[in-house]
Amino acid sequence: MRRIAVINQKGGVGKTTITTNLGHALALLGHRVTVIDLDPQGQLAASFGIFRPPSKGIDQVLLEGLDIESVRVSARDLVTLIPAGNRLHKVEELHEGGATRARLLQTALQEKLQDQAFVLYDCPPSSGMLVANAVFAADEVLIPVTGDYLSLNGLAKVMATLKKFEPFLEKPLRQWIELSRLIPRRRLAREVQAKVLEHFPGRVLATPIREAAVMAECPGAGRTIFEYRGSSRSAKEFNLLAQDVVERRTMQ
Ligand SMILES: Nc1ncnc2c1ncn2[C@@H]1O[C@H](COP(=O)(O)OP(=O)(O)OP(=O)(O)O)[C@@H](O)[C@H]1O
Ligand SMILES: [Mg+2]
Repeated sequence: MRRIAVINQKGGVGKTTITTNLGHALALLGHRVTVIDLDPQGQLAASFGIFRPPSKGIDQVLLEGLDIESVRVSARDLVTLIPAGNRLHKVEELHEGGATRARLLQTALQEKLQDQAFVLYDCPPSSGMLVANAVFAADEVLIPVTGDYLSLNGLAKVMATLKKFEPFLEKPLRQWIELSRLIPRRRLAREVQAKVLEHFPGRVLATPIREAAVMAECPGAGRTIFEYRGSSRSAKEFNLLAQDVVERRTMQ
C-alpha cells in the first residue's frame, strides 16, 4: 500500500482536483484506491458527485475513535471515499498534547485498508494539525505547484513544514512535486517550471496538468474528467500522471 498526502498550504492549487482525478485514474488502471477528505471544507465528496455526504466521516474516526471501515462510502468501481464529516474543523483546533494529536490518523489506520493499493489524503490549505496527521500517516507527499509568481514561495513554505516534521518521522517521506494548472504559453509558468526542476531534480512528476476549462467544470457536475470528457487532453494527462505515480516517473 502506498499512502500519499496531497499537500500545499497555498489554496486553489489543485489538491482536491488531483486527489479526485488521480484517484479515479489509478482505479481505471485496476488499482484499489481510498481517498480520504482531510479538509473541513469537505469538497472531495462533491467532486465525486456525492453532494449530500454522510455527516460522519474521518472527523469521528479522529475525534471519537470510530472504526474507519464504518465510514467508508463507495465512490466508483475500486474507489472508496472517506468523507470529511461535519466536525473535522475540531481536529484543527486541537492543540493539547500536540505530538499524540498529530498521530491520530496514523493510529486509526494501523492494520486498516490493507487491501488498498493507494490511499490518497486531500489536505486543507494550511500547515496545522490536519496536515500533520496526514504527513505522519503517509509514505509520500505530492505537492501541486502552479506556475504563478507566489508558487515558489509557497513551495519553500511546504518544504519548511516538512523539515519540521522530519526528526519525528519513522522513515523518510518521499516527496513529489506536480506541476498543476499549468499554462505553458505563459513565460512566467515556464520560468517557474525551470526553477522547480533546478531545485528539485528527480522529484517533479513527468506529466504536468494543464489549466483547462473542462477541469473547472468537472466538480460542479460531480464527475471526474474520465466521465465528463473522457477524450480530452486533461483526461490523457491524468491517465499519464497515474502511470507516473505507479512507475515513479519524473521529468529528469
Ligand atoms: N487543471 C485545472 N484547470 C482548470 N481549473 C482547475 C484545474 N485544477 C483545478 N482547477 C479549479 O481550480 C479551483 C481550485 O482547485 P482545487 O479545489 O482542486 O484546489 P485546492 O488546492 O484543493 O484548493 P483548496 O486549497 O481550497 O482546498 C477549482 O475551482 C478547480 O475546479
Ligand atoms: Mg481542496
